[in-house]
Amino acid sequence: MTKFKSSKQKNRILVTSALPYSNGPIHLGHLVEYIQTDIFVRFLRLIGEDVLFVCADDTHGAPIEIKAAELGISPEEMISKVYNEHVQDFKDFLISFDNYYTTNSPENKHYSDLIFARLKEKGFIYTKDIEVTYCGHCKRTLPDRYVKGKCPKCNAPDQYGDVCESCNAAYKTIDLIEPYCAICKNKPVRKISKHYFFKLSKFSNKLESWLTKNKNLQPEIKNFVFNWIKNGLEDWNISRDGPYFGFKIPGEEDKYYYVWLDAPIGYIASTDNYCKNHGLNTEDYWNSKDSRIYHFIGKDIIYFHFLFWPAMLLGSDFQLPYDIPVHGFLTVNGEKMSKSRGTFFTAREFLQKRNPEHLRFYYASLISKTMSDIDLNFNEFGNKINNELVANISNFCYRVLNFLNKNFDGNIKDIDTNKELINEVKQKAKDIEKNYHELNFNEALKGILHISSLGNKYFQDNEPWKLINDDREKVHKILGLCVNIAKNLSILIEPILPNVSSNLQKQLDVSNLKWQDINFELKNHKVGRDEILVRKIEEKPEQKFQLNLKVAKILDVRGHPNADKLYILDIDLGAEKRQLVAGLKGHYTPEELKNKKIVVLTNLKYAKLRGVESQGMLLAGDDGSNVGVLTADESNPGDKAYFEGYQYSNKEISFEDFLKTKMEVKNKKVYFENKELKTDKETIMAEKVNDGAKVR
Ligand code: MSP
Ligand code: ZN
Repeated sequence: MTKFKSSKQKNRILVTSALPYSNGPIHLGHLVEYIQTDIFVRFLRLIGEDVLFVCADDTHGAPIEIKAAELGISPEEMISKVYNEHVQDFKDFLISFDNYYTTNSPENKHYSDLIFARLKEKGFIYTKDIEVTYCGHCKRTLPDRYVKGKCPKCNAPDQYGDVCESCNAAYKTIDLIEPYCAICKNKPVRKISKHYFFKLSKFSNKLESWLTKNKNLQPEIKNFVFNWIKNGLEDWNISRDGPYFGFKIPGEEDKYYYVWLDAPIGYIASTDNYCKNHGLNTEDYWNSKDSRIYHFIGKDIIYFHFLFWPAMLLGSDFQLPYDIPVHGFLTVNGEKMSKSRGTFFTAREFLQKRNPEHLRFYYASLISKTMSDIDLNFNEFGNKINNELVANISNFCYRVLNFLNKNFDGNIKDIDTNKELINEVKQKAKDIEKNYHELNFNEALKGILHISSLGNKYFQDNEPWKLINDDREKVHKILGLCVNIAKNLSILIEPILPNVSSNLQKQLDVSNLKWQDINFELKNHKVGRDEILVRKIEEKPEQKFQLNLKVAKILDVRGHPNADKLYILDIDLGAEKRQLVAGLKGHYTPEELKNKKIVVLTNLKYAKLRGVESQGMLLAGDDGSNVGVLTADESNPGDKAYFEGYQYSNKEISFEDFLKTKMEVKNKKVYFENKELKTDKETIMAEKVNDGAKVR
């Protein structure tokens, strides 16, 4: 359990969230972390702590350099565009960073060089020649994800240079069989290159003792890390060959710090940037007994934050983190987020349809200090908002203020001295404080809902709308007590629902309340206008897409015995083989079709065509004169073909059902309601046909 310090021994607190990469948008998975961290920071501010919340974009690395090159823009241009988008997303989700900076900054260069120099001076860094994979065509050393080939263990084709997705084996890029460059498909060569290594192994004992002494870190994670240490830590390659987007290593021509070296240093750099602008001292956060550092991270980056980063800090005389709360991953409807299943949402897409505080509320109801994954289920999401936030909290506040405005012109005087209720609320508020402090927001929220239920019940049981005819004074006091409960709720919910909180405080005609204002002392006060705080969500049913489309490879083609225009095709759908009947004679020869990768409708009711069963249907464009199949050269048999943004149904459909989905060809691509047909690997192309061709 956390020990609370007395308010006299003020500590400075620094809180960070992991720095999101500059190569893509903020999505709902990221937001688990930023919302979790923000709730904690807002809570600390409410209880009067001196807290600084910093973050930054993680801008360096090979993927960013390569992506910018593909787009034909400079990495700087790319990261600045993404930076602005990230800042806007965070603002709209009410993430209250004190400073949101970038790792491509002078401060970060300064601290990276400083830490590198200190580590080198103390002998923790050495150089060594290693073998790397180099593409002569692209003129670059290829990082893991940019070399593909056959898995050295199981021979599965098209595997990345670090792990095999088929058998899970881990290996080195140079071990791949028949490697090829993922950018240009050419064969890379092996090359010797000098690299800088950090002696992580030298820190085993110190890391172990830090982990043992630190009582805040999650025990299950400590166990992992102890095991890693026990099995022996390998030294860490902290350099990369150019072309690379990052900081050049001092004294080198074409070598850069590996992004994971300067990324966590970005925590210091962002602090420094804030301190410079606010007359504060960076050392007071990073090198002081009076400060505590919290890093919030996801479970995928434990290794970096529990080993590399503390070792770097130890080796360069900075202070170690006080806590590193680790959260699990977001799943949507029980599964990993996926574009093809229509369950991947960016922050922006969510904002276009829904209220950001609803997501904060929903996440808070699931977040505790554990690594377990949390699930976003849109049915539960709606229920939770409607039954808890709207029907409980919002409803209580509205009925109290509305009744008060109608019957007493918004004025309260004294409060009902219901000791039992008052004590219960006070006790619950203490529990909530403890739960916020210990990062058990799910429990904190339960406590808040409990208080609101108590308020609703108290109001309901007293039937003020009846009682007012017999004992107006008593009703006035009852409302006085209810207004105090509403006021306390406005404080208790602030970390989770900052806007709802400030709207409620406005209606109560109070402002900027702190934790210490949780009391029953609001008397002789006039409230403002009442308004419904949160409205019910009216769920529109999810849009379902009825066609289940998959990539298939044509294995064999032969003429239909009873029909001139029909072929019989054997196809491979990855997990199964099927037979199709298709009217392609006259448009394709069997040789042209054989081995083609096409798109097949797989959930069409099987039908006999002139006596031969067709187990599905291949899709083709038809512009009146030409017929051309849809092709997917880069994809594998069984890969899903889809239009983004829909939930997919796997129900069997009839041919009439099929005809209701109108797809059309434009610029060789296939469109449905402005979305193009694709697989995870490519856009599907229609052969031979002109714009406006119907697809069937
Ligand atoms: N740039 C690194 C972090 C450097 S910190 C010095 C990175 N970036 S990230 O954009 O991939 O992730 C940022 C944070 O979001 C990480 O803590 C990561 O765990 C978290 N999440 C990313 N996807 C997530 C989910 N789907 N679910 C929950 N959290 C996830 O890692
Ligand atoms: Zn190449």
